[in-house]
Amino acid sequence: MTRRLLVTSALPYANGSIHLGHLVEYIQTDIWVRFQKSRGNDCIYVCADDAHGTAIMLKAEQNGISPEQQIANVKAEHEADFAGFHIAFDNYHSTHSEENREFSRFIYLKNRDGGHIATRPIRQLFDPEKQLFLADRFIKGECPKCGEKDQYGDSCEKCGATYAATELKNPYSTISGATPIEKESEHFFFKLPDFEAMLKEWTRSGRLQPEVANKLGEWFESGLADWDISRDAPYFGFEIPDAPNKYFYVWLDAPIGYMASFKNLCEQRGLNFDDYWALDAESKTEVYHFIGKDIVYFHALFWPAMLDGAGFRKPTGIFAHGFLTVNGQKMSKSRGTFIKARSYLDNLNPEYLRYYFASKLSASVEDIDLNLEDFMFKVNSDLVGKVVNIASRCAGFINKQFDGLLSATSAEPELLAEFVNAGTTIAEHFESRDFGKAVREIMALADKANQYIDEKKPWALAKDPANKEQVQAVCSVGLNLFRQLITYLSPILPVTAAASQQFLNIDSLAWHAREQLLLGHKINAFTPLMTRVEKDKVQAMVEASKEDLAAVAPTVAKAASKTEKASTIEAIAPTISIDDFAKVDLRIAKIVNAEHIPEAAKLLKLTLDLGNEQRTVFAGIKSAYKPEDLIGKLTVMVANLAPRQMKFGVSEGMVLAAGAGGKEIFLLSPDSGATAGMKVK
Ligand code: MSP
Ligand code: ZN
Repeated sequence: MTRRLLVTSALPYANGSIHLGHLVEYIQTDIWVRFQKSRGNDCIYVCADDAHGTAIMLKAEQNGISPEQQIANVKAEHEADFAGFHIAFDNYHSTHSEENREFSRFIYLKNRDGGHIATRPIRQLFDPEKQLFLADRFIKGECPKCGEKDQYGDSCEKCGATYAATELKNPYSTISGATPIEKESEHFFFKLPDFEAMLKEWTRSGRLQPEVANKLGEWFESGLADWDISRDAPYFGFEIPDAPNKYFYVWLDAPIGYMASFKNLCEQRGLNFDDYWALDAESKTEVYHFIGKDIVYFHALFWPAMLDGAGFRKPTGIFAHGFLTVNGQKMSKSRGTFIKARSYLDNLNPEYLRYYFASKLSASVEDIDLNLEDFMFKVNSDLVGKVVNIASRCAGFINKQFDGLLSATSAEPELLAEFVNAGTTIAEHFESRDFGKAVREIMALADKANQYIDEKKPWALAKDPANKEQVQAVCSVGLNLFRQLITYLSPILPVTAAASQQFLNIDSLAWHAREQLLLGHKINAFTPLMTRVEKDKVQAMVEASKEDLAAVAPTVAKAASKTEKASTIEAIAPTISIDDFAKVDLRIAKIVNAEHIPEAAKLLKLTLDLGNEQRTVFAGIKSAYKPEDLIGKLTVMVANLAPRQMKFGVSEGMVLAAGAGGKEIFLLSPDSGATAGMKVK
């Protein structure tokens, strides 16, 4: 029976870039979703940017743009990063959307009318200069216990004391540096204790991992408290109905963003929203949220309670994962292990990371470690050395000597049956998110396939024409075994799988299609499927991540202090040496063609002439230029930028432009006399 599923990953904040830590989650979810689809299930995967809150408002201010522009820029960046890692969302939306405004309003009003909202005044620290209330992370001062300077409003990093922000000595706002004052204002609360009985029952009914359910048990014991869901203006978010100048706290509308993104997809595809979210949908549609272990409280308590109070169904399950460490330690900017998605993509094939994470992932909330040595070793030995090798060892013979034709009968029916049958256990591992176990099974099969070929030695057989048929038989078995392996790996390696499918000349790599063996079947020419991880690329990525630190201002919350304001740091790029500059190969380029890419919101596809060669470059200048106006122009390009695989093709360089974005993008152009190919010095 085909199942109907709706799957989500947590919504990344719109104030920062995607990094490898985030990718644990998006890769984990994407593999699971691709697996479900391969099994023939009706599975939808939605996500969105989490666009609200003080941090985003301040970030926009710091960048000198509106919050709307800030979140639009980040959304485009996030989407490109996710596409780079082949994360195949069915929809990617934003919490700052009309759908989300409506659902937030609806869910809030239902809960209010049900008596689950309370209001009461609270006293909080207030920045008199910026005229805003300060969350703990925007206040620093001296620890009330040990006197250590520059401690945040909730706890001391030196002595470990926890306290209320109002207890700090000589407090200051990290946003303006001003001394905060205490001020009272009316806040809105969601009465979580109203849902205690329901939550106790719900959290114990097999929807959570055992360790998560245990953690919740502790929370129940210490007692549930009302949840403060309002923030005073100025705030970037949705205003609370009937409460002018009060806004929903970002975490109120964030999970509702799952629904909003799905609703947006319903409009695109004509799906029935109620089949997924109505109270009676629980029996016909499974809803799963993949999240990190840090946000369990929001997903396993607040979210089901809000849904319950508003008359919607609750999730079928919540799947929490652990945190990523790199080389055994917390990701660190100074060590170059705080690696952004883009820095990775600039250097390495995304499928390497998908495979490595898969090999490490399980259904538990344990942290997972990316050890860069192990990463290179595993990818090279497993994927390149074992899996791809099987195909390359066999394809040559079949293509050269048999015109691509595989034997009409299987010489090893038992061996093949063993590979096909292994699919049952492997599927169980995927289903239960034990990807590491699935990978180990698949690699054990790959070893077996290689052993078979080693024993049969088609290269030795091929020396004697009398063995011709046997060579074909062995290589046909080899390629059939490879086909089983690539079927099992396809949720993890979608691009290699697609290339293999093309080479094997088969209609489908869906799970069940593997039962139909390839007999008397014609394959296509073999193209190399995957190359080895190069050590210098890994090193380059780490180096680039170190540079990131110098180039990017620390976040507002962490950086700003009385003397050092984040807004002034951001604009100043680090000093570089003349040698650094000399590494950049700037050239005059002639735009010989420019075209729209209908699906791309920002990009134009440019063909640039460098005198002796032409390059394709995707440039984010669509908002400012018409393609026809560009053709014939001279501009400046970075000619030695590593080629980048983008959604619409490979970009082989970058053009230089100034300006804030939108209509304000100004391509650089040389004075008259310059010609294509000239070096810019
Ligand atoms: N915006 C909230 C989620 C709202 S969901 C309704 C948020 N955003 S986040 O950008 O900080 O994190 C997004 C997801 O990435 C979270 O599930 C988080 O746990 C996960 N990770 C962020 N850093 C991570 C690691 N270093 N390692 C593993 N996962 C990490 O939280
Ligand atoms: Zn202290």
